[in-house]
Amino acid sequence: MCGIIGCTGRGEATLETLVDGLRKLDYRGYDSAGVALSGATGVDVVKKAGKLDALVEALSGERERLDGTVGIGHTRWSTHGAPTDANAHPHTDADGRVAVVHNGIIENYQSLRDELADAGYSFVSETDTEVVPHLVARALDGGAEPEAAVREAVSQLEGSYALGVVVAGVDAVFAARRDSPLVLGLGDGANYVASDVPAFREHTDHVVYLEDGEFARVEADSWVVTDADGDPVDHEVHVVEWDPEDTGKSGYEHFMLKEIHEQPRALRQGLQGRVDEMRGEVTLEEFPSLSPSRVHLLACGTSYHAAVYGAHVLHSRGVPAQAFYAHEYASATPPTDDALVVGVSQSGETADTLSAVRAARRRGAETVALTNTVESTMARECDHRLYIRSGPEIGVAATKTFASQLVALNLLALDVAPGGDDREAIAALRDLPGDVQTVLDSSRAAEVAREYADADAYFFIGRGPHYPVALEGALKLKEISYEHAEGFAAGELKHGPLALVTERTPVFATVTGEDQSARKTIGNVKEVEARDAPVVAVTDGRTEVERYADHVLEIPETHPHVAPLLANVQFQLVSYYVANDLGRPIDKPRHLAKSVTVE
Ligand code: M6R
Repeated sequence: MCGIIGCTGRGEATLETLVDGLRKLDYRGYDSAGVALSGATGVDVVKKAGKLDALVEALSGERERLDGTVGIGHTRWSTHGAPTDANAHPHTDADGRVAVVHNGIIENYQSLRDELADAGYSFVSETDTEVVPHLVARALDGGAEPEAAVREAVSQLEGSYALGVVVAGVDAVFAARRDSPLVLGLGDGANYVASDVPAFREHTDHVVYLEDGEFARVEADSWVVTDADGDPVDHEVHVVEWDPEDTGKSGYEHFMLKEIHEQPRALRQGLQGRVDEMRGEVTLEEFPSLSPSRVHLLACGTSYHAAVYGAHVLHSRGVPAQAFYAHEYASATPPTDDALVVGVSQSGETADTLSAVRAARRRGAETVALTNTVESTMARECDHRLYIRSGPEIGVAATKTFASQLVALNLLALDVAPGGDDREAIAALRDLPGDVQTVLDSSRAAEVAREYADADAYFFIGRGPHYPVALEGALKLKEISYEHAEGFAAGELKHGPLALVTERTPVFATVTGEDQSARKTIGNVKEVEARDAPVVAVTDGRTEVERYADHVLEIPETHPHVAPLLANVQFQLVSYYVANDLGRPIDKPRHLAKSVTVE
């Protein structure tokens, strides 16, 4: 969603640093962008609706005017008001003394706006954010020093915010957070503020994560974090482990394709030091020994599909488990005291999931953050953390992080299940990175995608642990290709969706093994084949599904819990190639954002 970058100490490179930072954040999804540079006498702002290229073009004639050496920049994903130049951030006061960028939603903005308007402050946008520079201006007008004025403004806000503020004549960026992430980057003679580390990672790997309610003053050579009362807060300085190149495309046409191909490495990282095949054991060293009598998994989108898979695996290992859409959890049966509540979230910042996990905590549940993002809000707020260790994922469409979530959920299930470990499953997990590589090296997905790129709709079916992968296959395809796709439990087709099946709706079926579940899915495949739908079967060769399929996408034989991960790779590739053949902007699908920080 919205992205923030701020810097001080970059001298003549300030504008370039801001624009580069915004480029690094553009994976988050946005529909307008802007920068503000603060100098001795005023703040200069340039902002444009549309993508960053529109902003860069607008900046081309302005470089001389934009000579301030303290700056903030923003990519906006619209909530209050359409994506117009006027609604783009930064927002300023009427005199151009103050500029503000903001992520989140200010819930009391309407009453603040009415109050400010009554006092003569005039507004030029429809945003909630614009109240902030006017509140700062009112405090300055009342005689407050700049930092005190910003603090006074922040103290009047209700809702969620990550704020970056500059005030003319002050060589500092002010920052404040509540319920929206903000991180400081500590460089050599220059310091940074951002909503996410990639924005400044090329300049420094030393970071400080702000906590809710904290306020920071960041100058070129110093930084100080204080609490709401202005008392200094000690912070650990973390060192980011990944390289700046990890956020580049490494020669791939799209981040999504790069990240699909990174899966063997991501999965190896997720397993490293956690499985001991000799002893047939899983050891999650950073994780306590837990024996929950039930597990609730809360998540959204792709992570919800991982949660559905996790519930299946836990259940099959004797631990009652249920997956919930985080945004529906409020109306679900509350967790009992003995429930372990697991927030499944790549970013660890998804507002819906955070809110559900917080509600569970308030009810007394023990909580786990299963996330990719070290020091994310969810990681910090939960009782325990299980990191999936995928490395940074830039494409809006989650790919490698989904695979890593499924591995982490397998490890969790093996760790907490009463029946002890399962050598076959552990061996299959050990072989998984190599098996994924085999699929990547031999997949015929591009050919299949080309054949069906003009289909009316695409259906995905699977049973048991393959069902969530069918859901995920459809989500991936629809989000990046804009084509209609649905995932179904294989047995459900005949209860309604079969009416949609025609010769122009390919059905992608994932079916492995030779047990009763596989036989039943093959029965469902026959049902669609009899209605003239093309069938693409993802299979390990142990089923006879190829007899009813127009195309077969092969995967290696493996443990039944691990096979869906391999099938998923074939589905990822099909989605990618359908979208690519249709010329879609794969890494930045319309209307979507990488990290969804509003409910
Ligand atoms: O960061 P999270 O895993 O909590 O994100 C949840 C969803 O917004 C996310 O999985 C989304 O569905 C994917 N980006 C889609 O590919």
